[in-house]
Amino acid sequence: MIDQPRRLVVVSNRLPLVLSPGADGGLVSKPGSGGLVTALLPVLRDRGGVWVGWPGIADHTAEVEAALDRSAKKAGYRLAPVALSAEDQAGFYHGFSNEVLWPLFHDLQSLCNFDPSYWRSYCEVNHHYAQVVLAEARPDDFIWAHDYQLLLLAAELRRAGFTAPLAFFLHIPFPPLDIYLKLPWRFTLLRALLEYDLIGFQTLRDQRNFIQCVRALLPDARITHRTRRVDLPDGRGVSVGVFPIGIDAAAFQRQARSAGVTAAANALRAELPQREVILGVDRLDYTKGIPLRLEAFRLALRQYPELQEHVTLIQVVVPSRDDIPQYRNLKTRIEQLVGEINGEFTRPGGWVPIHYVYRSVDRLDLIAYYRAAQIALVTPLKDGMNLVAKEFCACSVHGDGVLILSEFAGAAAQMQNGALLVNPYDIEGMANAIRQACTMPHAERQARMKRLRQGVSRQNVFRWVNGFLEAAIARDLDAFPLPPDYVPSAEAEQAYWDTAFAE
Ligand code: ADP
Ligand code: G6P
Repeated sequence: MIDQPRRLVVVSNRLPLVLSPGADGGLVSKPGSGGLVTALLPVLRDRGGVWVGWPGIADHTAEVEAALDRSAKKAGYRLAPVALSAEDQAGFYHGFSNEVLWPLFHDLQSLCNFDPSYWRSYCEVNHHYAQVVLAEARPDDFIWAHDYQLLLLAAELRRAGFTAPLAFFLHIPFPPLDIYLKLPWRFTLLRALLEYDLIGFQTLRDQRNFIQCVRALLPDARITHRTRRVDLPDGRGVSVGVFPIGIDAAAFQRQARSAGVTAAANALRAELPQREVILGVDRLDYTKGIPLRLEAFRLALRQYPELQEHVTLIQVVVPSRDDIPQYRNLKTRIEQLVGEINGEFTRPGGWVPIHYVYRSVDRLDLIAYYRAAQIALVTPLKDGMNLVAKEFCACSVHGDGVLILSEFAGAAAQMQNGALLVNPYDIEGMANAIRQACTMPHAERQARMKRLRQGVSRQNVFRWVNGFLEAAIARDLDAFPLPPDYVPSAEAEQAYWDTAFAE
């Protein structure tokens, strides 16, 4: 596909910063939140290139350009803005991306709003992104689109006559066939996605689901196991790979050991003496399973009273997508549960079981939370990967943290040997896991965390990007087998291939 290092052009819905009007009439710039930005920032910093995306503000003024230029100079790569009107944001971003694709791809189809006007807006805005890419791209660039907001980008670029190779990575899960079939635009979307030349998924689960959808909806496509390729009747071949994303583990470790973070973590611990600190960190999103997690914490306190006064849950919730009613309702539900639990258990002596933080905290404060906590509670109902789980391990520099992890997070495939896996719908199971984590012998904690830290360091974001780019060069995914520790066993992998690619 490409034969030498080329300029990297990353296209994602958002740029890594969010501009908004400030009180003084100027612009305020905040870092974007979410795993996509965290993962891609070090990649662009490392390689340079261009990042195409929406700067988070409707108007495109000279001031916006100037703010982006200033940020780009500091960052060392170019920021190319895509202007989205308020109408685009309503139909494309809040509408089709986050009220159709986001719930559907996380298996929550009952939360979908299949409004046909959302689909039209999604098509128009993908076209609009394509125009910006066309204006930006040079013939030798490596164009890499990201995530569910841009499933139609390749098709729009092809329609405009663009012939160079195009690669795509899906950060969120790909749903099973029965769920994908609910989408009214299922054929068009799948066919458009296959205009990319390389499609990357987080896990085998997602790749398998995708292949099953292709087999069911496009029976003329030929699927080859050995080369992980889908051959289309028009003669084009599409490579479909698994590339579990990682973090810049070395940077997290370094920052976790820094004097500032050490002092902040010690101060947090001093406020909670003799307590086991359990940490949850999530965007405010219904896929993260926060209410069920809080119920499990309540059950653990009721069922195991010896935990009372000995554990404190710090739940950090980062505001997200608050124009969508379901997100606002979730906030109310979480606040209600926190209030109920604190009301039931708070002791006059000062113990408050849940410390609830609802705001965007900066990176060093977040790392201080990771470092201060002994247990991380990461229980999404479904998640593409979940970087919080990896960041906690990288920052657990004493090597004795315990990770409780949902079996439906993509990260579970890589972290199952060290984490306590839970079903996020099983409140009793999670309550038991909380107790198990609190009472786990020190040696077992260390042994588990050692495995987790090794995995997170090895399978880092640079390895992810290199693996993806090498696969793009080779177009032969057989040359890039999955890391040996990625699947539990050779038999499991064989069983998977037997079903996914059975003729
Ligand atoms: P998602 O991408 O669905 O939000 P992930 O767990 O994969 O879930 O990624 C969340 C990312 O957001 C992590 O990299 C985490 O460090 C980052 N993050 C968490 N809290 C904040 C915060 N308060 N402000 C900015 N980013 C945050
Ligand atoms: C997840 C998605 C990203 C998205 C991020 C934040 O990580 O995979 O594509 O950017 O959440 O969500 P937002 O809607 O604020 O961009």
